[in-house]
Amino acid sequence: MSKPILQVNQLNKDFQVKSKNKLFSKPSSIRVLNNVSFELLEGETLSIVGESGCGKTTLGRCIVRGMDATSGQVLYRPEGEEQVDFLGLRGKAFKKYRKDIQMIFQDPFSSLSPRMSVYDIISEPLLANFKLSKSQLDEKVTFIAEKTGLNVSYLKRYPHAFSGGQRQRIAIARSLISQPRLIVCDEAVSALDVSIKAQIINLLKDLQEQLQITYIFISHDLSIVQNISDRVAVMHLGKIVELAPVDSLFTHPMHPYTEALLSAVPEPDPDTKKDRIILEGEVPNPANPPSGCHFHPRCRYKTDKCVQQEPELQTVDNDNNHFAACHYANQLNLRGVIHES
Ligand SMILES: Nc1ncnc2c1ncn2[C@@H]1O[C@H](COP(=O)(O)OP(=O)(O)O)[C@@H](O)[C@H]1O
Ligand SMILES: [Mg+2]
Repeated sequence: MSKPILQVNQLNKDFQVKSKNKLFSKPSSIRVLNNVSFELLEGETLSIVGESGCGKTTLGRCIVRGMDATSGQVLYRPEGEEQVDFLGLRGKAFKKYRKDIQMIFQDPFSSLSPRMSVYDIISEPLLANFKLSKSQLDEKVTFIAEKTGLNVSYLKRYPHAFSGGQRQRIAIARSLISQPRLIVCDEAVSALDVSIKAQIINLLKDLQEQLQITYIFISHDLSIVQNISDRVAVMHLGKIVELAPVDSLFTHPMHPYTEALLSAVPEPDPDTKKDRIILEGEVPNPANPPSGCHFHPRCRYKTDKCVQQEPELQTVDNDNNHFAACHYANQLNLRGVIHES
């Protein structure tokens, strides 16, 4: 088995928020990431799913150091070296390793400067990190443009001249130019049309194979997640509530929240009828999380224990790779998406 490239240990993120109606009130803090821990194996794709606002983007940003985590560790293992405390790196050491971990966002339009040519956008990260001659730079940009399916003769143009799919390719090319080992893709294909989406997904998969890239793939689209992932983590209100290999999670979910999310995935066989589980009530407010299990107000299986005690994320019976944070994980027989005959 491959070694972990990344180890996230008890990551927490609090935001200070000021109450809207009280002008002079002290800011209160809300916990948006709550003890998030997981390992990432080299070359795998780990997807992160969960409703809007559960903390997926915040998790990605804290890992790439686009924002500071409040506490916790991210350990990164550079190629052929010992693990480093990535969040603790400063100065030269940070400069050395930061290019190894990149993030791609949903909206490539707002993340690409309109005043820079595509060539400059793609090459900019290299200029910041390496001293290269013009011909070396040309060679690298051409190589990456070809890899990502961009027409090399268009590199002098500006981003507005490109379609959404092409702009996402530019964003991918920019993130690849400094040879990252890990890329966090945050809803990277969500804004694209179906056929373009498939092309970009295939591109990401091909690049993974050719360049041994590890992905954290953040998405609310469970059909894509099922297609692209090795493992999946389900987040609810800043916590991972289930983490498992993709097939195991989709066929045998062990957390009622996962079951509800999966009930919205369309069945490939139109004759298979399925009842969608409607999650009643509001998504709980992270500023005032429910007692016990944070999912209990919307859970169809809750008992008094769920109201009182918060369940830990732990392995389920008979499967060391399947983690769930539910008191009844081993008793409930929850419904997945692929029906075995
Ligand atoms: N800069 C911020 N200040 C205060 N709250 C924030 C900030 N950024 C995000 N949040 C809150 O953190 C929670 C998680 O947000 P986010 O990570 O964007 O979720 P997701 O990507 O899963 O939709 C949300 O409740 C959001 O309102
Ligand atoms: Mg987000």
